[in-house]
Amino acid sequence: MKNLTTKKTEKLHRHYLVHYFVVFVLIGMLFLLQGCDTAMPATTTVEPMRDGNPLAIPALLEDQNPDPDVADFELNVQVGEMEFFPGVTTTTLGYNGNYLGPLLKMRRGQQINVTVTNQLNEMTTVHWHGMELSGEADGGPHQPIQPGEKWQPSFVVDQPAATLWFHPHPNHMTGPQVYYGLAGLVYIEDEVSDNLNIPKDYGVNDIPLVVQDRNFSQNGEFLYDLDMMGLVPGDTVLVNGTVDPYLEVNREKVRLRLLNGSNFESFRFHLNNGENFHQIASDGGFLESPLVRESLFMAPGERVEVIVDFSEVQRETVILMAGDYEILTFYVKDVAGQDTEIPETLTIIPDIPLEENPTTRLFVLESMGIRGTINGKVFNMERIDEEVPLGETELWVIRSRGGMMMQPDGHPFHVHGTQFQVVSRNGNAPPPEERGYKDTVFVNAGEEVVVKVRFQYEGLFMYHCHMLEHEDNGMMGQFVVSP
Ligand code: C2O
Ligand code: CU
Ligand code: CU
Repeated sequence: MKNLTTKKTEKLHRHYLVHYFVVFVLIGMLFLLQGCDTAMPATTTVEPMRDGNPLAIPALLEDQNPDPDVADFELNVQVGEMEFFPGVTTTTLGYNGNYLGPLLKMRRGQQINVTVTNQLNEMTTVHWHGMELSGEADGGPHQPIQPGEKWQPSFVVDQPAATLWFHPHPNHMTGPQVYYGLAGLVYIEDEVSDNLNIPKDYGVNDIPLVVQDRNFSQNGEFLYDLDMMGLVPGDTVLVNGTVDPYLEVNREKVRLRLLNGSNFESFRFHLNNGENFHQIASDGGFLESPLVRESLFMAPGERVEVIVDFSEVQRETVILMAGDYEILTFYVKDVAGQDTEIPETLTIIPDIPLEENPTTRLFVLESMGIRGTINGKVFNMERIDEEVPLGETELWVIRSRGGMMMQPDGHPFHVHGTQFQVVSRNGNAPPPEERGYKDTVFVNAGEEVVVKVRFQYEGLFMYHCHMLEHEDNGMMGQFVVSP
């Protein structure tokens, strides 16, 4: 992560007028208080003053279908306005709201019907990132929704409990549409998640965290700024669309479902008090057992679920950091929370069986600034790059070419419509955090990662770098799965 702290200071300087104003008001209030302190009732419990803004928690989208085996969801893609900074309006995009989207809760085995209405004046698509489904329902560049039109994908959820997400995928326009606010979360629940006594109280001890870096122009609009190196790193980090967020939690274990929803930047998260995270899930669901992690590296598109134990916290404040940047402040209240656990065993992950001499395909990633190629080719919607037989499991070897000028540190490689298992990283067994299901894997410059991919659904799918400006500028290919 580039040095966000200095940038944050610049941002603070830009907003110095607002700060002086706040100081003025505070001095004014002090005078007022001085004048009337005898009138203050002695028993008033004053809520502690918190720095920053309360973390927004995405609304839960209501399932319109009374049948528990079927869920009907409605999503409107719309233009909105947000006040990220007091008194400053920013034009945004959102699903059913101003920025980001609601949470869609689905159950394994459930039939899902979604009606998406595009109220924008440009084309969009809605892609279900991490969902195992047919190409028709995937929502990639081949399922455009024109302005004013509707799109109605249907699919049956048949994969383990996980935190997935959805976002637009129009060819060449994914980066800006996501930057302006189009992204939302999907939770899949199943019998395994039902039976674990982990934190599950949404917004209380089960907290979604969509982390995104952003730049703003002088007049407060988003500044989607490309340069020689790629997308300019944001000087402000939004969490669920909140600037400088804080969250009040009880003294209990809290589950954080992290999504790096940034376009181009990776983060390495840690806690300022030196506490560890207990990682319980990766992109595609639970790990077999929790992992103690000091820090979490997350490239764009990746999800990680962790439990943080606040039940024994001595100091009242714990800060989630990325480098020197304060991402989110937790205020631990002196209130006992729920009795949940960090179980020793979470699930069983069966090894995806592989036949002898499986088909092996090589994908070489190369980039220069925002432009890139896979196997030397720039994405072309009219060209099928790979043909995969339905029902097969293959080995995909992903190599990232390093050493070139203006080449970023690495690329998060993502495959649509499937969850894969990492077989090796640079010839070695994958680290424990990569032993669960993944749909996006980071391949650093000069590295080679081998994954085992299973193709159980027919249709046309994408594979690409999940740095969205790379995806929009050539680093994508498509494969067709057919019997
Ligand atoms: Cu999250 Cu092809 O995307
Ligand atoms: Cu995807
Ligand atoms: Cu890339």
